[in-house]
Amino acid sequence: MTTRYAVANQKGGVAKTTNTINIGGALAHRGHDILLVDADPQGHLSRTLGFMDEYNGQEPNLADAIKEPGDYHIDDLIVNHPELDVVPSNLDMFSVQQDLIAAGWKPRERLSMFFEDLTDTPYDYVLIDAPPSLGVINDNVLLATQKLVVPVEPMESSIHALDILLNQIETLEDRYDTHIDIAAIVLSNVNYPLDNDQQENIDYFEDTFAEWCPVHEIRNRAAVKRSLGNHSTVFGADAEETDMADNYLTIAETLEVANE
Ligand SMILES: Nc1ncnc2c1ncn2[C@@H]1O[C@H](COP(=O)(O)OP(=O)(O)OP(=O)(O)O)[C@@H](O)[C@H]1O
Ligand SMILES: [Mg+2]
Repeated sequence: MTTRYAVANQKGGVAKTTNTINIGGALAHRGHDILLVDADPQGHLSRTLGFMDEYNGQEPNLADAIKEPGDYHIDDLIVNHPELDVVPSNLDMFSVQQDLIAAGWKPRERLSMFFEDLTDTPYDYVLIDAPPSLGVINDNVLLATQKLVVPVEPMESSIHALDILLNQIETLEDRYDTHIDIAAIVLSNVNYPLDNDQQENIDYFEDTFAEWCPVHEIRNRAAVKRSLGNHSTVFGADAEETDMADNYLTIAETLEVANE
């Protein structure tokens, strides 16, 4: 059984990519086979993990698979990283939204269709890094996973962004008669000491969501950033030691429990 999670928030720069990579690293460290899918046309995850050439020129690529899900198998798209496997993004992803809408046929369900045939994938977990905008690609990711990890930052604008995301989830649930679950909130890139506003915003997320799902915290650490600079999760051979590794392992554990 493969479980899929999206790491999603249309707000930019809230650590979606950093969390996708390190939660994937943590699940791999705990013995699972992991596939990361980079659904962001900007390809930050792919480039961070060292797949610049694939981002610029892989054929076939994720854009092809989303447009014609029946024509490609995931094995055609996967590249290997020392810790986990990756389906890289590609420059062609920039035109996907337009192409799917122009084609007019189930533009929001293409990624689900692509995964539907993949019952024989050897992965325990697939994590999909979503783009920082609402739209057809984000909808594809939400419908293909129906389980979300939502990174937020302790600021007012993150609360507003989450309201908008929750609205979009409701719209998709109604329209596709399905349920999309928030599996975890990750307060991300948190910088201590906190000012009063930041503390209030953290309290808001904890008070509002702790009843529904775990609310985790990942602090700002230069070591996290430097490991990414070495194309590595914080669990890789080239990673720099950081206390946040334990926090990522805790997130991984709660995602395993949510999957039981
Ligand atoms: N825990 C952390 N410690 C240090 N730096 C971090 C941490 N988390 C994220 N960052 C940095 O914050 C910036 C934004 O992170 P990231 O790219 O993961 O966000 P994102 O939500 O994927 O952005 P986008 O919306 O553009 O896709 C990056 O420079 C990243 O290195
Ligand atoms: Mg990103």
